[in-house]
Amino acid sequence: MFEKRIDEELSLRLLEKHHANALFQLVDVNRERLQRWFPWVETTREPADSEKFIQGALQGFIDGTSLNCGIWYRKKLAGVVGPHSIREMNNNAEIGYWLGQEAEGNGVITRSCTAIIDYLVEERGINRIEARCVLANDRSRLVMERLGMQREGLLRQWLKHDHGYEDVYIYAVLAGEWRERRGRG
Ligand SMILES: CC(C)(COP(=O)(O)OP(=O)(O)OC[C@H]1O[C@@H](n2cnc3c(N)ncnc32)[C@H](O)[C@@H]1OP(=O)(O)O)[C@@H](O)C(=O)NCCC(=O)NCCS
Repeated sequence: MFEKRIDEELSLRLLEKHHANALFQLVDVNRERLQRWFPWVETTREPADSEKFIQGALQGFIDGTSLNCGIWYRKKLAGVVGPHSIREMNNNAEIGYWLGQEAEGNGVITRSCTAIIDYLVEERGINRIEARCVLANDRSRLVMERLGMQREGLLRQWLKHDHGYEDVYIYAVLAGEWRERRGRG
């Protein structure tokens, strides 16, 4: 219902309670590929868990501390994208994203993140947008590079997973760099 249309085939929508079943099904059919990167997949075991996530996302929307959106691609829920942490004190934010396999390889995340970063920079006045990924996550690393984010370093044992701790890369883009890249510098 509350929608940011990106183009003919792609839009971001505020997730609502009634999306919980569809969101859970998407996680469930992609469980194997998602759990390699996200510890939360293990604890998403039934639609009620996805409903809880949606409630948290809506609360973050109210508080202005996050904006996790459902991605609708060719009329189907295809994944989730958003700043999951907006920290007003330091004027920075961190984005995260995932897609079901069916939608992969079409620029869906690059286009979605572009809209999200535009919102953060132009509407929220955020100065720095970060993203992180596990070293082995080539597809995610390529998204950040496609967005023009700079790799700033490696955070040792940052992610606690069921198989142990993992090192992650941290990438970021600054508002000035983003505006220049978008021709608004
Ligand atoms: C990480 C992830 C979101 C990347 O998805 P993706 O589809 O590879 O990323 P994009 O949406 O940027 O699409 C890029 C691909 O679409 C193609 N493409 C088509 N149109 C495009 C456009 N307008 N803009 C950018 N790329 C486009 C690119 O050439 C690229 O193709 P390739 O994969 O054959 O090289 C996805 O692999 C995923 O969900 N993985 C599991 C969860 C995960 O790892 N999340 C991130 C944790 S840090």
